[in-house]
Amino acid sequence: MSMDSVVAAEVENMEKIGFFDSGIGGISVLREFRKLRPNAEVYYIADWQYCPYGKKSDAVILERAHVLTENLLKQGCKLIVVACNTATAVAIDSLRATYPDVPFVGMEPAVKPAALHSKTGVVAILATPNTFNGRLYKETSARFAGDVKIITATGEGFVELVENGEFVSEHAKAIVSRILLPLLQEGVDHIVLGCTHYPFLKGVMQKIVGPDVEIIDPSLPVALRAVSLLDKM
Ligand code: DGL
Repeated sequence: MSMDSVVAAEVENMEKIGFFDSGIGGISVLREFRKLRPNAEVYYIADWQYCPYGKKSDAVILERAHVLTENLLKQGCKLIVVACNTATAVAIDSLRATYPDVPFVGMEPAVKPAALHSKTGVVAILATPNTFNGRLYKETSARFAGDVKIITATGEGFVELVENGEFVSEHAKAIVSRILLPLLQEGVDHIVLGCTHYPFLKGVMQKIVGPDVEIIDPSLPVALRAVSLLDKM
């Protein structure tokens, strides 16, 4: 085999993974995945034309999820990470039914670790309205509703901050405080990030809520799930 064909064969065998989100939020998952699989060939689609997804109709999000998946499959992706809680909530069942041979990894609000470790018995989930309306969130929260009080809140304005690259500005602090301070008054000791944009604001959030409140970012567990599926392929 010539050197060229060795390189060609390696490129052919390279793991191609697709990620998509309404914008840059899904990079919070991608950066964890990259640490675990630095050599994988990654395709990432930020669906800016339709961003934000949070309040769009199910029909629009479903359509976009199918279009983006189709695009990633055409690039040769063998596994798709739906790096968006909203798209997962609305579209993952339909994607799995349409492409039964393609492994999909979706986002899930990490209610379980918050509920298990809460000392105050009050936890908050931050996500978009569409995520809260989805089956996944309803099922997961119902499972833990008996053990803890779950407060839901939408990060109004957070996606826009992140898309503008405003992770630490005074403006970001003001927008984030408006949502988080009422949660502190409720006695929340865990805050679950249920939108892939929100981890970019984790630094500012932690400053606002202080060290005693745990902020749970599910990016690493989702990246680990993708890696474990790849290992089985
Ligand atoms: N990053 C997304 C999510 O995880 C979408 C947010 C939006 O576009 O509203 O829900």
